[in-house]
Amino acid sequence: MENLNNIRAKNSGRELFRTPRYAFEPLFDYAPEWFSGTIIDPSAGDGRMVALAVDRGNTHLHLVGDISPDERARWNTNPLLAGVEQYVGDYLTDFRTEDMFDTMITNPPFTKAQAFVERAKEHVDGHICILQSVAWMGTQKRSRWLQNGSGLRWVLNLARRPRWEFDDGLPGASNIWDFAWYVFEPGYTGRPEVDWLFDAT
Ligand SMILES: C[S@@+](CC[C@H](N)C(=O)[O-])C[C@H]1O[C@@H](n2cnc3c(N)ncnc32)[C@H](O)[C@@H]1O
Repeated sequence: MENLNNIRAKNSGRELFRTPRYAFEPLFDYAPEWFSGTIIDPSAGDGRMVALAVDRGNTHLHLVGDISPDERARWNTNPLLAGVEQYVGDYLTDFRTEDMFDTMITNPPFTKAQAFVERAKEHVDGHICILQSVAWMGTQKRSRWLQNGSGLRWVLNLARRPRWEFDDGLPGASNIWDFAWYVFEPGYTGRPEVDWLFDAT
């Protein structure tokens, strides 16, 4: 039976569920140095991941973007995002920047995640952190890319499955998928390292 979260996401016409804090804060704890420079989240939703970096004292010039113009109102009312640059549009086709960022962190749409990583390499020279299901490692084509040339450096499994959050306030159903942070280092050609992330609760 299909997961309620996936059905809701499909019905909504875009993948608009939000990531619970316990699914990204452990990454900040695992490697705080990855989040100490400039950060871009190009499918940021309400901008909660960049907001956490600012909340932890990183006040560099970050950027949040999303294809949905509705998110702008959320960015504009979050004091933590007051000094953060904004972009509304399709990251894969519209986004332009002259800037290099140290880190990308994002939970992109499943179908576009690989393209997001490739695009990120044009303007991220540190770490590219992508939240996807553990199953994302599969399929012939993606497996070859992940093994050879993608720059995948870490696979950091979330010990707790994320229960997505929805704007209607209804609790998300339990996730049937396990998730991991896939961390890419542009230019890395070795084998990836596997580790596990635990949240405090
Ligand atoms: C799964 S949601 C995650 C939102 C947010 N990153 C979070 O974790 O709470 C994916 C987000 O990607 C955005 N999105 C989808 N396609 C996009 C694209 N081509 N460019 C930029 N954003 C996109 C959606 O509007 C949505 O906000």
